[in-house]
Parts: sequence; structure tokens; C-alpha cells
Amino acid sequence: MRQVAPRETGELIIARDLAIDLGTANTLVYASGRGIVLNEPTVIALNSRSNDVLAVGREAWQMIGRTPGYIIAARPLRKGAITDFDITEKMIRLLLQRVGVSKLNRPKVLICVPSAITAVERRAVEEATRHAGASSVYLIEQPMAAAIGAGLPIHEPMGNMVVDVGGGTTETAVVSLGGIVALEPVRVGSFDIDSAIQNYVRREYGIAVGERTAEEIKIAVGSAFPVNEGIRAEVRGRDVMSGLPKTVVLTPGEIRHAIEEPVVVMTDSVIRCLGQAPPELAHDLIGNGIALVGGGGMLAGFSDRLAKETDLPVHLVDAPLESVVLGAGKCLEAFDKLKVMFMRSDR
Ligand SMILES: Nc1ncnc2c1ncn2[C@@H]1O[C@H](COP(=O)(O)OP(=O)(O)OP(=O)(O)O)[C@@H](O)[C@H]1O
Ligand SMILES: [Mg+2]
Repeated sequence: MRQVAPRETGELIIARDLAIDLGTANTLVYASGRGIVLNEPTVIALNSRSNDVLAVGREAWQMIGRTPGYIIAARPLRKGAITDFDITEKMIRLLLQRVGVSKLNRPKVLICVPSAITAVERRAVEEATRHAGASSVYLIEQPMAAAIGAGLPIHEPMGNMVVDVGGGTTETAVVSLGGIVALEPVRVGSFDIDSAIQNYVRREYGIAVGERTAEEIKIAVGSAFPVNEGIRAEVRGRDVMSGLPKTVVLTPGEIRHAIEEPVVVMTDSVIRCLGQAPPELAHDLIGNGIALVGGGGMLAGFSDRLAKETDLPVHLVDAPLESVVLGAGKCLEAFDKLKVMFMRSDR
């Protein structure tokens, strides 16, 4: 991963403006003039007795499913929304400390939020970010940041569609003249595919696998369209009846069947968004196609499946996991020109 701790460079730390993509699965931070400086799983490990933070990011992620009773390794975001503000604030503070934020170095922070965020959630995100060390906080809607990060010509009087499949959400937007014209967010993402896999292997083979194993199965043999049918995944889990280890071999066909439900929710939401777009803009999409971003968009065959369902060309961008933060980063670099993109603060 491209992760640079500012202190390692030995240079004088100056307050660099930061952009944060606080995702359900991964948190990325972009520093102006520098690029992506942090890329970690959105996970925090806590001592449940004292509420002390034991680890954040990758280190905490390693602990998922492996903790003794008094340690909780948790994802503080669910379905794109913050479920526990105290814990989220702690996590943001620790991650920002890693990139050099301190009492003496309080940067301007642009934070990417789900487009369907409520006013209450919005204020809470702002507060958490300010308490974590930001001098001022700006918000941008994730699909807008994703469109900018995907390099779409958002200022043109022309329809462009971006689909962002994250861990907890799938957000589709049509953008034209610098604004979102049609939007369809659903709180179903790639984690729901992992759960469907967990449920399937338990139901079909009677073995229990953890969420990290389910994710590995998804990346190894998961697909939304037949693409690589010859591969197999050998999986070790715990037999729920005997409690003993058991190995099974999974095929792409059975996993595709097992994950069909969340995949359909995702593709249906894209189709609904197309239905919302004004006819002229919908027509533009025939030529421009759909830009697919987000880690969930990397599911094998997902772009083919989407192309088949929508009858439009679908293009998976080069760095799907980074599009949102890179788009927000572009906004930082051209702050005065692009600040019209930011959501208004109600304060
Ligand atoms: N090669 C791959 N195939 C399928 N899924 C993948 C692949 N690589 C990553 N993913 C999935 O992508 C998801 C993470 O994507 P991303 O980082 O875009 O989510 P996020 O931005 O944190 O979530 P959200 O936007 O919903 O809040 C994870 O569920 C992960 O399993
Ligand atoms: Mg995301």
C-alpha cells in the first residue's frame, strides 16, 4: 500500500489540507501536495472492560474473529453510517495522528459522506472530525467525489453515471453540470456478499467460516457472471455439528448462485437510477457508459453483469478502491474552484 508517514520524511510538518474517505470497509486519507498518505481497514479494537483503544486499522483488522472475550474488534460504520460516534471519533483521531495531525497542526479537512446522510448524521461527522483535530471541516458527497476521481467530465452539460460499490453501500449517481441529477443509494454492499457466502456454506456444508474467510472465498471464486469457471476454492471451516475442522471445495457456479440476492439488489438500484435520469441525459449514457468504482465493483464479472442488465458499456476504473479519496483530493488541490461541490453546512 502507498502509505507514507510524514514523520518518516524528516521534514518540517506543516498543516496540509486533508481529504478523508471514511468507508465502511476502508479509510483513506489524502494530503494536499502529497497524495494518499493512509489506507487502512476501518476497524478498531477495544478493551470492552476499560473501553481503551488497543489498535486501529490493519492491526485491528488482523484481530477480527481472533479476540478473547474482553477484546472487541469492531467496524464502527455499518451500511455506510456511523453506528457509534465515540468510537468513530477515537478512530479518526488516531488515524489523523498517524498523518501528523496534532494540537499544533490542525488542518482543513474535507470528508466524503454518503449522499443519503441525514442532517443529524452530517453534524455528527463534522463534530467527530473537528474533535479529532481538524481546524475546519467540509463535506462532499461520495458519488460526486467518485465521479471526479474517475476523471468524468462533471462540469459538461452531459450525463455521466458513476456506480460506487463499497463494503456497506452501493451508490449510483448521474452527474451533469457539476451537480447530481439522479441518485440511488442502497445500503447493500460487498459485505452483504460475504454474509451470503457465510450463510451458504453453513447451510449447504454445515461448516462455520468467519467473515474474513468469506471475503477470501468471494475474491477467489466469487462472480456475478460466468467468467472463470475452472477455478476452485478449498476452504477449511468448523463443522457446526462435531466442532471439528472440515474442508470443502467450492465452485464459482455455486457461489454465484449463493450471492445472487445482494447482486440483484445492486444491479436493480442502478437500473432505478437510470429510470430517474431525464431522457437527454439518459441518452448521453449510451455513448459515455457507466464508470464503476469501489472495491465491490472488482467482483469478477460484475461489470459484465451490469453491462448486460443495463445494455450500456461499463468501465471499471483503474484504482477502484481509491477513486473517492482521489476525487476529494482533486477538490483540495483546486479548493476555490471546486468548493461549490461541497455540501452546505447547516451551522
Ligand atoms: N477483488 C475483489 N473482488 C471482490 N470484492 C473485492 C475485491 N477487492 C476488494 N473487494 C471488496 O471491496 C469492499 C471494500 O470496498 P471499498 O473500500 O470501496 O468500501 P468502502 O468505501 O469502505 O465502503 P462504503 O463505501 O460502502 O462505505 C470489501 O467488501 C472487499 O471485500
Ligand atoms: Mg466507499
